[in-house]
Amino acid sequence: MPPWTKHLTMASSSSLFLLAVLLALVSWQATAYDPSPLQDFCVADMKSPVRVNGFPCKDPMAVNPEDFFNPAMLDQPRDTKNSKVGSNVTNINVINFPGLNTLGISLARIDYGPLGVNTPHIHPRATELLTVLEGTLYLGFVTSNPNRLFSRVVKKGDVFVFPKAMIHFQMNLAHDKPAAALSSLSSQNPGVISIANAVFGSNPPISDDVLATAFQVEKKLIDWLQSQFWENNHY
Ligand SMILES: *[C@@H]1O[C@H](CO)[C@@H](O)[C@H](O)[C@H]1NC(C)=O
Repeated sequence: MPPWTKHLTMASSSSLFLLAVLLALVSWQATAYDPSPLQDFCVADMKSPVRVNGFPCKDPMAVNPEDFFNPAMLDQPRDTKNSKVGSNVTNINVINFPGLNTLGISLARIDYGPLGVNTPHIHPRATELLTVLEGTLYLGFVTSNPNRLFSRVVKKGDVFVFPKAMIHFQMNLAHDKPAAALSSLSSQNPGVISIANAVFGSNPPISDDVLATAFQVEKKLIDWLQSQFWENNHY
């Protein structure tokens, strides 16, 4: 065997090892969140009777540029004056934008009236990156036990991140003008659980014995809370 063959063999086996390590790292990262698409796109076929995790793909030959476009006019402020909490969330996700299917991303615009609140809620499937478009907000999130609050005041152009599945909220600090924010979310279908609505407005209601003990208050306060109208401000 000529001496150079041995060097060649050693070189290729060490680069093979490096390649294997790299591949292992890459595939581990790829499985950490929404699975990576196995094709260029999979525009959701909302009419298909087939049930999968997500939506089945529309025939690629029937896909057209409109499938990758959403004319929702996110530059238009949404009405907040009829909202009990003074905010209005406009979602752009796979439900109203089928082109997002399998892509692991979505958007929301949040409008706040004076002192309006986007009440404490959770997105079970997404991290949220919020950019302030207009105004000044007080916002924050609470971690899992022990429940630490990370909060601050943010202004136009600032960016804040709410890690996946943490309870979070925002409030417009101005009592005389509106505010707005644009959120990017790391899932095509982030989901939302508004805490007060889920606890006091579930259908059917949670037993008031359970909630009186949980909140350490009289049952009649729970009954009063459960009789309120719990508005959903996410559209
Ligand atoms: C949110 O805005 C939309 C569009 O402007 C409007 O139709 C809807 O009634 C608003 N919701 C509330 C609670 O004000």
